[in-house]
Amino acid sequence: MSEGAAKKEEKRRKFQAIRGTRDLLPPETALWNRVEQTAHEVFGTFGFGEIRVPIFEPTELFARSIGLDTDVVSKEMYTFEDHDFGELDRLRSTITYRNPDIENPHSVSLYRDQLNDFVRAFGEGISSNQIPRTPENLRALETLQHFAGQIDSLAKDWTGGVLIAKVRFDGRVVDARENLRRIQFGDVLSLRPEATASVCRAYIEHGMQSLPQPVKLYYMGPMFRRERPQKGRYRQFYQIGAEVLGGSDAPAIDAEVIEMVMTFFDRLELHGVQLDINSIGDRNCRPKYVELLRAELLKVKDKLGADSQRRIETNPLRVLDSKLESEQGIIATLPRIADHLCEECAVHYAAVKHQLEMRGVIYRENWRLVRGLDYYMRTTFEITAQGLGSQNAVCGGGRYDGLVELLGGPPTKGIGFAIGEDRLILSLQESGKAPAQQGRDVYIAWMGERAHATAIRAAKDLRKGGFSVELPPVEQKFGKALGQADKLGAKYALILGDNEVSEGLWTLKTLADGSQAKFTEPDLLEHLRKQRALSS
Ligand code: HAM
Repeated sequence: MSEGAAKKEEKRRKFQAIRGTRDLLPPETALWNRVEQTAHEVFGTFGFGEIRVPIFEPTELFARSIGLDTDVVSKEMYTFEDHDFGELDRLRSTITYRNPDIENPHSVSLYRDQLNDFVRAFGEGISSNQIPRTPENLRALETLQHFAGQIDSLAKDWTGGVLIAKVRFDGRVVDARENLRRIQFGDVLSLRPEATASVCRAYIEHGMQSLPQPVKLYYMGPMFRRERPQKGRYRQFYQIGAEVLGGSDAPAIDAEVIEMVMTFFDRLELHGVQLDINSIGDRNCRPKYVELLRAELLKVKDKLGADSQRRIETNPLRVLDSKLESEQGIIATLPRIADHLCEECAVHYAAVKHQLEMRGVIYRENWRLVRGLDYYMRTTFEITAQGLGSQNAVCGGGRYDGLVELLGGPPTKGIGFAIGEDRLILSLQESGKAPAQQGRDVYIAWMGERAHATAIRAAKDLRKGGFSVELPPVEQKFGKALGQADKLGAKYALILGDNEVSEGLWTLKTLADGSQAKFTEPDLLEHLRKQRALSS
């Protein structure tokens, strides 16, 4: 192999985690487990049960829930088509990129044959229901069939020198290309960017409206958004979330959900927790406020950055979210939603605040808190924590009455939140809550065949007693074994040689002070148990 080829091969072998994804390693994973265990415990005490939903769903589910104009749906989803028509898909690409030249009979007949092959297989896929019967697919089939049947006569016109035949032919090729691009061979799916939509889908699918209401569910797991990676922002990140679905929209529910997150953060001793709340109204009052905001924003459009200018059209509320320094003065003068809530929303918001106070939950009102997903109404909230830099939102949530209905279910109230677990862990680590590397309890230093058999038995018994044990797979000199035990941070070395085995007295060395003592097999376990009880 040449040097160049060898280097290339070497390069190819070095795989790395994809940008925005990462490996979580021990001992950090112990902290992840502790956080997740605490969530199971705390959420359980509030009567929530765990739900596990798939990692991918139809793109349409997210588009309809989160909203087409949101960043998440318009730019950040990992979307793919799921189908068994790989070869047909390749033929589609070939035809799409082919430029048949009507002056060249060979080029035209190749194009015609391929188009005919494609149309036949595509038509069969549709009639056997293996390819979805979407209006776009049916329209494409019809257009392509028609064109394929006409190619020969168009080509004949050209051989007669009719220039218009060339123009017509080229136009049809462009048209065919457009139709080919629009074809869908299978379902369009996306990796989930969040889980609220999936939980609502599951609520409808499993008829959970017939259970006692409200249904209280929580989840944890990876989510996927194609954002620009930075500290606290990843393309695969983890959320711990909860949703309350059905029943009433009593303000006490909003307050209890918030109380639950705060209790969870409190249990983890998260530092610098700040809860911001707001009400963004409902379908009665929000549209009027949005129009008022849009009108005010249009007056100052020239002073705004490009993103905000675009948002005046797509979603004026998001302008309030802007962190751009130059826009802060302008935003401060804009009308505030609290002054434009309808009677019902204002009463609800006041009651939520009162309920939070009854629970001793400290909050700050933030009229600029609008959230980036379309399904919210009334109560919205966000929680920040310390040590996270610009990506300091560790939890976001709010009320979304109507979302279940939007997805085809009955009218249903809903409220929930999701915690960014990566950020939560980062903040805990910044405040010194990272666990140390977990050392072994016992390293078994054995020598000789008989001692090996005893060592295997000892390891089994100690592990059964809940001790972590390192049993070297091959014989080592005692000196080397003790060095190894030290490196692994073992508390004890259990020394098993011929003498120990024949006497039935095992030597236990405490590595911190080098002291040694001999024990019979049952006494050893008892001694270790006592020591463990003393140190815990
Ligand atoms: P969200 O505000 O989009 O809300 O996300 C919730 C939290 O997930 C954020 O506050 C943040 O901590 C974390 N997060 C979001 N994107 C990333 C990322 N790229 N990298 C790391 N962490 C991230 C939702 O997802 C809603 N489903 C919450 C909800 C549930 N609302 C009602 N129910």
